[in-house]
Order: sequence, then structure tokens, then C-alpha cells
Amino acid sequence: MCGIIGITSNKPVTSAIINSLRKLEYRGYDSAGVATLSNGFINEIKSEGRVDNLEKNLLNKKIEGTIGIGHVRWATHGIPNTVNAHPHSSETVSVVHNGIIENSTTLKKYLIKKGHKFKSQTDTEVIVHLITELLKENDLKNSILKMLKQLHGSFALGIIFKDQPDLIVGARRGSPLAVGYGPNENYLGSDSYALKSMTNKISYLNDGEFCIVKKNEVNFFDETGNKINKKVLELSSNEQDYEKGDFKHFMAKEIEEQPITLKNCIKEYIDSINNEISIHNFPWKNKEISSVVLIGCGTAYHSCMMAKYWFEELTTLDVSIDIASEFRYRNNRFKKDSLYIFVSQSGETADTYAALDLCNKNNMKTASIVNVIESSIARDSNFVLPIHCGPEIGVASTKAFLGQMLVLYLLILKLGIIRGDLKKVNYVEKIKDLKKLPKFVEDTLLTENKIQSVSSTFIKAKGSMFLGRGFSYPIALEGALKLKELLYVHAEGYPAGEMKHGPLALIEDGMPVVVLAPRDNYYKKTISNMQEVIARGAKVLLITNKSNDDVVSENIWQKIEVENTNEDLLPFLLTVPLQKLAYYSALKKGYDIDKPRNLAKSVTVE
Ligand code: AGP
Repeated sequence: MCGIIGITSNKPVTSAIINSLRKLEYRGYDSAGVATLSNGFINEIKSEGRVDNLEKNLLNKKIEGTIGIGHVRWATHGIPNTVNAHPHSSETVSVVHNGIIENSTTLKKYLIKKGHKFKSQTDTEVIVHLITELLKENDLKNSILKMLKQLHGSFALGIIFKDQPDLIVGARRGSPLAVGYGPNENYLGSDSYALKSMTNKISYLNDGEFCIVKKNEVNFFDETGNKINKKVLELSSNEQDYEKGDFKHFMAKEIEEQPITLKNCIKEYIDSINNEISIHNFPWKNKEISSVVLIGCGTAYHSCMMAKYWFEELTTLDVSIDIASEFRYRNNRFKKDSLYIFVSQSGETADTYAALDLCNKNNMKTASIVNVIESSIARDSNFVLPIHCGPEIGVASTKAFLGQMLVLYLLILKLGIIRGDLKKVNYVEKIKDLKKLPKFVEDTLLTENKIQSVSSTFIKAKGSMFLGRGFSYPIALEGALKLKELLYVHAEGYPAGEMKHGPLALIEDGMPVVVLAPRDNYYKKTISNMQEVIARGAKVLLITNKSNDDVVSENIWQKIEVENTNEDLLPFLLTVPLQKLAYYSALKKGYDIDKPRNLAKSVTVE
């Protein structure tokens, strides 16, 4: 949820740190700061708000130094202001931190008794005083080991020391941390994206490990202090993936590139010559799996909900779903013949990672569906299914959602055919339809003008509802989430059939209600539910698929028709207008579309 960077070099580092902080802003942006070592002193500059503010402050007070650390914050403890911004420093130590120190109150009491003075309301500041206290009686390495033992909770740390002017210490537990290798300089960063403008040579720390980074050497240690070797990965970096190009926002670009990302993903998994889905090295035999548990958060959870319907339609596997933050504390009945599938765009979501860790500790079969293949969740799963969407920078997930659904659908078709649950003729037919999906999405993207016109009604309304049944229900939830995230208004996704059990009371004259009613098995029922809300004054935006027979209903405020395709694939098409509705509503309000308030792209804290 925060971003950290550290650089040790033979040349001044401040501007390189600022550049990396700009790339890290998608992880959190309510305050920022930088600290460097120069002339034997720690120099620290911090600011509330965006990195631009920090840069303005640096114009007034330039800080030199060839070693430094930087941080962008998403507040967990302490309001977002300059005092609580990182780095947190004493005379001799400066720290940047991503995560939550769960025993900070206890440690703070102990350190105050030792005479330490605290300036901020943050949990992080205890790290500064704890390592300072330990260094009084221990050398650097032992101080680090003792500190790591005393800290409870999650952290990715970057620490510089007045008396160690050539090194940065990094440590990881539960929050991602990477080391980058450059010419006469080396780096520490939350992820490869923060380092990509300086290097594509990366090593990743695992939980419990720490490192000592100097400009010409890096040493890694395990939690007992033994030196360990780390693989150096050379990551391919496609510059244009990280730029907006002609688009005003990353989200706009990522919505528009969905036909391409779907096509790329289909190419990765479908052998077009033989019309066969290839999922290489799937580690388990049919008889080893009799049920599936799908786990994720937010949009990723909605893709799990969607997959549940497909699993039930296309296989005989038992399937359950859970929100990761619930699963990790539930009294789970772990079953040997269950496959636990973790869906996560970033692969770093703390709750999802914790749920995976729990399954690993119980020796369960684990698979992950991720967009970032070098992420923690991917690294710690038995099997990984990448969604091949390219970097998704907009905080509101769009192309990754369609990518998650696509890979889940491919997996389900594959399991269906190898288990004999799906007839070959249906399997082949569905693959043929699937190959047309990018074109259908492309055509659906053209329903732009109507969406722009209806968005004004959603802006003015004090709230809205998104209704759907069956396959459309998870999409209704996703559409509501997009509008909440971007327009900062109440928007509720609900099963259409449930409205009469209470929420119908919410409907009042002029309230915008999106009804997802493609011509599928649920169509007639959903149209009846739609009539119930129209009868109570709702302004219904009906999203359905093209058909010759007209909708059996009057008084519909607006109608959008998406392309007609195989019923399984309609959820992909229904999603597109909802992404655009959220985008254009926020655009009209002038809100920050790529970095909505209070949010962050990768939620790496509980
Ligand atoms: C989606 O628009 C949100 N940004 C959020 O719900 C996100 O899907 C969730 O935090 C999970 O992230 P992940 O896919 O990276 O695990």
C-alpha cells in the first residue's frame, strides 16, 4: 500500500529517487518523502500529498548525497500529513516502511522508557528508535537480526545509517521488496516497476530475509543471519506498456486495449491449429481434484464469483468462493483433494497472500491467476496461470478483470474436457466462440456515446443500484464497485431476485438503476425484476445483447445493446459499458481517475 525506494551510487541520488517515487505513486499517494546521507548527516525532506509537492519543497531545500531512501505513503497509522510521512529519522538512522507493525504500541512504551522521543503518530517510527537502541550494544548485522525478531506484523523496510555511509539495509516480511542492480549503483524498491527506468536486473527477497545493499555489492541473509544467494532475473520491459500514449488516463488506455490483451492471452493458451487449450505442466491428475476453492479480493473476487457459475455449468467439480480477508481467519476445513485458486492482478495483495500462505502451511494444492508473474503470490503458489495483460496502472482494475475471467474460463473448459464433464463438440464450439471474443469486445467498446450521455444522471443521483441474475450478478457487483471507486458515490450491486426482500425500499423517483439482462436463461425473470423497480420510479439503464425480438417492457430510460455471442461470454461484454460509465462519470467530475482518493493499486497491508 506504500512504495519504497533506496539508491546507493557513486553519483547524487535525489532526482533518481524522485523519479522512482513518481512510478511508485500508484501504491499510495497521500504523502511522500526522501532522506539522504551527506557530509555525515541525515537530510530529510517530506511533504503532504503528491510527489510534485515534495519536488517543490526540494527546490527550496536541495539535499545532496550519493545514498538515500524515498517513500510514497498510503496512511495506515496516523493521518496523512508531513509529520507522519516517511522517511522517519533520528540523528543516526532513517527508515522507510511498507506494512503494519502490530506491536508498535508495546515497543513505543519500552523505547520511551529508554529515553527515546517520538515525533509522529506512526507505527513505523518505532523501527527508527528500536534499531538505534540495538546499535548501542550490537554490530549492524546482529542489530538487524534482533530488530526483525522484535517486530511483529508485516514490513518491507529500507534503512540508512549515519555511521554506515555506504550501505542501505532492506528487510521483508509480508510486503514485497526487490533489489535492482545498476552500473556502480544498486537499488532497493517495492517492485520492479519502481526500478525499471534504472535496471531490469532484479532479485526478490522472500519473507524473513534481509539484505545489505552497497553500490558495488549486495549481500542477502536469511532470518538466522546466514548468507544466501539470490537469482538475478532479467525482466523484459516494454516501455509503451508503462506510458499513457495518446490517452488522457491509464484507465482509458487499459479499457481500450482489452481486445488486444484478450487476444494476447488467447494466443498464450489456445493452440489455434488444433483448437485446443494448452495449460502446460498442470501438476495434478483428475482424480487428485474433486473440488475447487476460489479466493480473491475486490474485482479479483468478482472474477471468482463468475468462475463459480462456469464451474457449475461446465464441470462436475464442487466449487466454493471466498473473500481472502474472510478466508484467512475462517475455521476452514482443508481438504487434500481441493485445489485452492488465488486470483490477484498484482500478486501482492496482503489478504490474498495470507490466504495462500495458510493453504501452503496446510500442504494444500495451490494455483494462482496473476498479472505480475514475478509477484509473491505467483512465487509461492504450486502452479501459476498468468493473464498476460501487461502492466495495469490505473487503480481501478479493468483489463485485468477481463483477463482473470478469461484465464478462469480457459481453465474450466480444460478441466471440463479432461475430466469428461464437457463433450468434445461443445468444447470445440466454445473455443471457436472464445477466439471471436476480442472482436466482440472491440465492437462493444463502440457503445461509447450513449454511456457518456447517461453518466450525468449517475453524477447527480445520491446513489444507484446495479442488478443482475446468474452470470450477470458478479458483473453487477463489479459495475457498482467501479462507480464507487471512481465517482465516490453509493452504488450497490445486488442480485435482481433479491430486491423484493428489502432493498426495493431504496428505490425512489428518478433513481438510476442499471439492469443487466442479456437474453440468457435468467432473462425473463430479470425483466420482471426490472419492472418492479420501474414501477417505483427508477430510471433504468438496461444493458442487454442484440436480438431481433424487442425487450418486453416499456418505460425503460435507456438501453445499451452489446454484441450477441455464446452465453458464457456475455459477462465479458456486459462489463465494458460499466467500466466506461464509471470512467466518464469521474471524468465529468474532474476526479483523479488513475489514482482515486483513499485507494492504492496494490493493497499490501491488512
Ligand atoms: C479493483 O478496481 C480495485 N482496485 C480492487 O478491488 C482490487 O481488485 C483488489 O484490491 C484486488 O487487487 P489484486 O487483484 O491486485 O489482488
